[in-house]
Amino acid sequence: MSSQEISKESLPSEQDTAHGTAVAENPFADPGLPPHRPRIQDIDERAAKRSERTVALLFTLSMLATIGFIASFVIFPVDKIVYVWPLGHVSATNLSLGLTLGLALFCIGAGAVHWARTLMSDEEVADDRHAIEATPDVKAKVMADFADGARESAIGRRPLIRNTMFGALAMVPLSGVVLLRELGPLPEKKLFHTGWAKGKQLINMNTNEPLRPEDVAVGSLTFAKPQGLEEDDHDFSNKIAKDALMIVRIQPEDIKDKRELEWSHEGIVAFSKICTHVGCPISLYEQQTHHVLCPCHQSTFDLSDGARVIFGPAGHPLPQLRIGVNDKGFLEALGDFDEPVGPAFWERG
Ligand code: FES
Repeated sequence: MSSQEISKESLPSEQDTAHGTAVAENPFADPGLPPHRPRIQDIDERAAKRSERTVALLFTLSMLATIGFIASFVIFPVDKIVYVWPLGHVSATNLSLGLTLGLALFCIGAGAVHWARTLMSDEEVADDRHAIEATPDVKAKVMADFADGARESAIGRRPLIRNTMFGALAMVPLSGVVLLRELGPLPEKKLFHTGWAKGKQLINMNTNEPLRPEDVAVGSLTFAKPQGLEEDDHDFSNKIAKDALMIVRIQPEDIKDKRELEWSHEGIVAFSKICTHVGCPISLYEQQTHHVLCPCHQSTFDLSDGARVIFGPAGHPLPQLRIGVNDKGFLEALGDFDEPVGPAFWERG
């Protein structure tokens, strides 16, 4: 490039030269601020308009990407796998969610940066250091500076940028709302129900045989599950965590709680085996006192008195299942539990 081709704007101005000369002469002197050079957008309204449209386009792209994020949830099944070079086989949902959310956030950031670099004031200002305590004058100045900043950001004069920015910022959180779907279906009434229902026989968990009243001896502790629940069921663990029963036989005259006696059969009572503290399975039975002890934190329940808590951190008695005998002579449930079993429901309350 010849010296004639160097444009006039690219050469240092007289002010620049004076500033540089002052620094060179006395390096300890306050050099002051270099002179402000207006950008093309400061002197050409058409260039400013171009920048404005670019910023608005980026914010609009962010809004479209957020809509794409939400649409991805609807369009792609969770198990849809696609091949994308060079990633290989990937989940279509994860890929589209990542791309659209990334684009939405990137466009907001890029729009804000472009706005600041091209349209907001870039004039450097110096202010004297002042006392930390804010005086009324300072507060008034801060408010005035804030108003100046708002004016210089052109947010009032450029409604296109302002509106698209607010639109983009308002829509991005919608992505989070859609992600709530990943928490799974609502529990609905499931917390109130177990696998027990009227007519379901009590199955001995050791022998896998239906229980008869004569199988339950005084002083013994028997564990039972509902008829139809098998150990090789795919959700056996989940179901048994709600359905597991403890069966004991108590002399009817030793049962103190009137409702417990009514819900028993000849002194045979059935209580949930799931501790109401944090859900450990109860397994220790003291036949003389009819107390059962949870091995986790030693909560103790009195099975002769409505499974009332007599010791430990559990906050609720064990739920009782109402039982009877069917016409074949087997023990059966006369309904579901009339309250939620285990701790989770109570802890939520
Ligand atoms: S889980 Fe039973 S006492 Fe804590």
